[in-house]
Amino acid sequence: MATKVYIENLSTHVGENITLQGWLYNARSSGKIKFLLLRDGTGVCQGVIVKAVVGEEMFNRCDQLTQESSFKMSGTVRAEQRAPGGYEMDVTNIEIISVAKEYPITPKEHGVEFLADRRHLWLRSSRQHAIMRVRHEIIRSIREFFDGRGFTLLDAPIFTPAACEGTSTLFETEYFDLGKAFLTQSGQLYGEAGAMSLGKVYVFGPTFRAEKSKTRRHLTEFWMVEPEVAFNDLNDNMDLAEEFLEHIVTSVLKNRMPELKVLERNIKFLENVKRPLPRVTYDEAVEILHSKGLPFEWGNDLGGTDETVISEQFDRPVMVHRYPAAIKAFYMKRDPNNDKLALAVDVLAPEGYGEIIGGSQREDDYDTLLARLKEHNLPQEAFDWYLDLRRFGSVPHAGFGLGIERTVSWICGLDHVRETIPFPRMIYRLTP
Ligand code: 4AD
Ligand code: MG
Repeated sequence: MATKVYIENLSTHVGENITLQGWLYNARSSGKIKFLLLRDGTGVCQGVIVKAVVGEEMFNRCDQLTQESSFKMSGTVRAEQRAPGGYEMDVTNIEIISVAKEYPITPKEHGVEFLADRRHLWLRSSRQHAIMRVRHEIIRSIREFFDGRGFTLLDAPIFTPAACEGTSTLFETEYFDLGKAFLTQSGQLYGEAGAMSLGKVYVFGPTFRAEKSKTRRHLTEFWMVEPEVAFNDLNDNMDLAEEFLEHIVTSVLKNRMPELKVLERNIKFLENVKRPLPRVTYDEAVEILHSKGLPFEWGNDLGGTDETVISEQFDRPVMVHRYPAAIKAFYMKRDPNNDKLALAVDVLAPEGYGEIIGGSQREDDYDTLLARLKEHNLPQEAFDWYLDLRRFGSVPHAGFGLGIERTVSWICGLDHVRETIPFPRMIYRLTP
C-alpha cells in the first residue's frame, strides 16, 4: 500500500500515489465509472473508479460498499475545483475493511429524538462533525488565551462537600462513611484558593446541575471554564471577559470557516465581537425593558425573553453588571455605593442566545462573608476552609465562568445546546 494520508493534507500530495482510509459517505455510479465519497474525519474526498482501469472484479466489489462501510482506497491525487474538498483521486485499488449493514441514519430527514437515541452514530454526520470541530477550536483557543497570559490551570474536584450555586440544583450521592457528597456546580471556590496561591488561575472541567427545566439552554452536565484573579476588581473582570470573548471568536473565524459554512452560520454578528463590548447596569437594562413595553419589576432576575430583548439593542455581546444582590450568589461582593447591588456581571450573547458568562468580584471580608453564609442558610463547617481564604491574607479578587455549550450553541448558531456536546445529559436523557 502507498503512503497513508489524511484528506486535510491532500494539497501536499497532488500527483502522488497515496492511500486514504475511512468510511463511505456516498456513492454513485454511471455505467463504467463509479464515484465513492470517502470521509476520514478530516474531510471528504471523491474517488473515481473506472472499470477499464481497475478491472471488472474490483469494479463490482465496490457495490458491497454501503453507507458507512469502512475501506481504504489508493490512487493518484488530482486537484479538481468541482469536487467536494477540491481534490479527487483516480483510484487504482479498493480494500474493504468492514461492510456496514443498514446504517440507520440516511440522508433523508430524521426526527431529533431518533437521532439523539443514535447520538453515537449521529456524530458522524457532517453538521455534527462541524459542531465538534468548532467546539474543539473554542476549547483550544480558551487554553491558548489563559496559557499565554500567565494563568495556571487548577483542576477542581468534582465530588464536593457543599453547594456553590444554590441548593436547588445539587446532585447528591452517598460518600462512604462521610455522608453526602455533591457533584460540583462550579469550581469557583477552589479557583479562589488557587488564585491566593498562584495569582491567576483557571479551572476547566465538567459541572453538574440538577436543572429540572426543559429549555434549549440547559444541560445537567456541562463544561465551564472559570478564571479567577487575585487583586482584580469588577472592572478588571469585565476587561478580561471582553478580551477573552474576542479571542475565542477571532480564533473560530480564523480556523474553522469551512465548518461555519457547513452550518450555514451567518457570521455577521461574530465579526462584530471586538472590544470594547457595551456595558450596561442592571438598572439601565430594566429601563431598556420598560422602554420596550415589558412589565418587568426591579429586583427580579432577567428571564430568557428579557435577555433577548436587551441583547437585541446591541450588535455584539453585552455586559450587564450590578444586579440586585438578593438574586445573586452568597459569595458576591456588594457595591460599596449601594448595598442592594452585587458587583456581578453577566455577559449576554447576541441573537437571543442569552447568558454565556456569569461572574463577580468576590466578598473578601471575613465577617461579611460569614454573615452571608448564615443569610443563605449554608452550613458554616463546610465552608470553613473557604473562610480561611479571608482569615489569611485576604485580597480583592474576581472571576467568572463561561459555559462551553452555550458558547458553542451561539457561535454555531444552533437551536439547542443538545448538539453542542458529544453526549448530552438532560432531565430526560441519560443515553447513549
Ligand atoms: O452563572 P453561573 O451559575 O456562574 C457560576 O457558576 C460561577 N461560579 C462562575 C464563576 O464566577 N466562576 O454559570 C456560569 C455559566 C453561565 O453563564 C452559562 O453559560 C453556563 O455557566 N451554565 C450552563 N450551561 C448549560 N447548562 C446549564 N444548566 C448551565 N448553567 C450555567
Ligand atoms: Mg448565571
